[in-house]
Amino acid sequence: MSRLIVISNRVSAPTAQQPSAQGGLAVALTAALREADGIWFGWSGETGETGELRFETYDGVTSATIDLPEQDVEEYYDGYANRTLWPLFHYRLGLTEFERDFQGGYERVNRLFSEVISPHIEPEDLVWVHDYHMVPLGWMLRQKGIRNRLGFFLHIPWPPTRLLIALPEHRRLVEALFAYDVVGFQTREWLETFHDYVEREMAGTIGPNDEVTVGGRTIKAIACPIGIDAREFIAAANGEKAVATLNRMIESVHGRNLIVGVDRLDYSKGIEERFNGYQRFLETRPDQLTNVSLLQIAPPSRATVQSYQEIRGTLDALSGRINGAFAEIDWVPLRYVNRGLPRDVLAGVYRAARVALVTPLRDGMNLVAKEFVAAQDPDDPGVLVLSRFAGAAEQLAEALLINPYSPDEMADAIEQALAMPRDERIARWRKMYDDVCCEDVIWWRRRFTDALAAVEVAPA
Ligand code: ADP
Ligand code: G6P
Repeated sequence: MSRLIVISNRVSAPTAQQPSAQGGLAVALTAALREADGIWFGWSGETGETGELRFETYDGVTSATIDLPEQDVEEYYDGYANRTLWPLFHYRLGLTEFERDFQGGYERVNRLFSEVISPHIEPEDLVWVHDYHMVPLGWMLRQKGIRNRLGFFLHIPWPPTRLLIALPEHRRLVEALFAYDVVGFQTREWLETFHDYVEREMAGTIGPNDEVTVGGRTIKAIACPIGIDAREFIAAANGEKAVATLNRMIESVHGRNLIVGVDRLDYSKGIEERFNGYQRFLETRPDQLTNVSLLQIAPPSRATVQSYQEIRGTLDALSGRINGAFAEIDWVPLRYVNRGLPRDVLAGVYRAARVALVTPLRDGMNLVAKEFVAAQDPDDPGVLVLSRFAGAAEQLAEALLINPYSPDEMADAIEQALAMPRDERIARWRKMYDDVCCEDVIWWRRRFTDALAAVEVAPA
């Protein structure tokens, strides 16, 4: 069996300091790494002089991390990753910054990664690189003589060609993907927009069996939607902590219907549009005024980036305005919490909710939607209101799918969700639940690594 090497900006393998793996990706990759005796490489999250890789083996999983100098963090992580690629790939050209220094930092850090990691790669290893922070890494590993099977998975959307070409070095970025053997996208839609770029901008061809050819090089490009660790999440939702949270939530709403939103505080998540839609609901349905309570949980993210500071300010003001306009002396329409919750507490919050509003303006997948489905009570499930622009909408078609830019559609969907008869709620939920359990994170990981392992490597 080949070893598995995982490389991503953040490493979420368990460590002595953080003993339980956090989140689906961490759980899936940790299990795979344990089985395959692998290593997870990435940035430590710390700023400092770049030293040696720090190896740590905990609970059968090895991680290796490195610090990055302040300038690299500014240009690579804050800069190219989160001020250039993230907004552009989420269709936000107006927020995208184009700075040569950012691109320089991005290439520098990717090269550094290739230098420190390549000595640890053995000939039979499968190498799996994750996300937009690391696109050129495969190409740089090839330059270091790495001939292994290399895979890349993009967790975020792939933008339309006409947007992507706004990036001055778009061609260089996409060409770098052809150093990998398998490139994975979350949905058919992102895969098709990638095909479009290849055909229009690179005169490439799309062949059978997921093949994409440019010049003399053929790679596999696949749609491979990520899932959650459904078993773990269902167990969490039925655990003691979740039940205690469920009861606490029920008590806190005094018989009203709880609506929830759970997101990183990111402009791509459509939280401002969600608040506007909720406000429209309150304005236009005065009879519902004291029948609902919206809980929005949004821990700050990437707080050194200006566009994130701005959306935070906007949401602070908007939440204050909504409460100022609609609150009663014994009721507030909106509780807005800027803190993350432990997963078992989160599972209890999902269980208590009659409605979840998952309304990103654009999202690669959106795991909150899947977690909400997994946490529901089979006899009395809540309703998922889901943006049609989230990758998850391809799989969760039984949700109430809406256009998040339209406050009227959002208000109508809230009304429909609150009034939905139990039979219909169960029928919609059952289908989504089966999909969430079947296409879970283990399924995703196997699908990708099987595709990678099946690639024939060229003789040396
Ligand atoms: P993204 O990866 O862009 O943040 P996803 O919805 O795909 O969006 O994944 C977010 C993950 O982070 C989910 O597992 C979710 O449970 C977790 N998460 C998001 N917001 C919170 C929060 N407020 N508290 C705890 N966990 C959160
Ligand atoms: C998205 C990205 C991930 C990233 C995560 C949290 O899910 O696809 O690569 O790790 O957001 O963002 P952060 O910048 O805190 O790592």
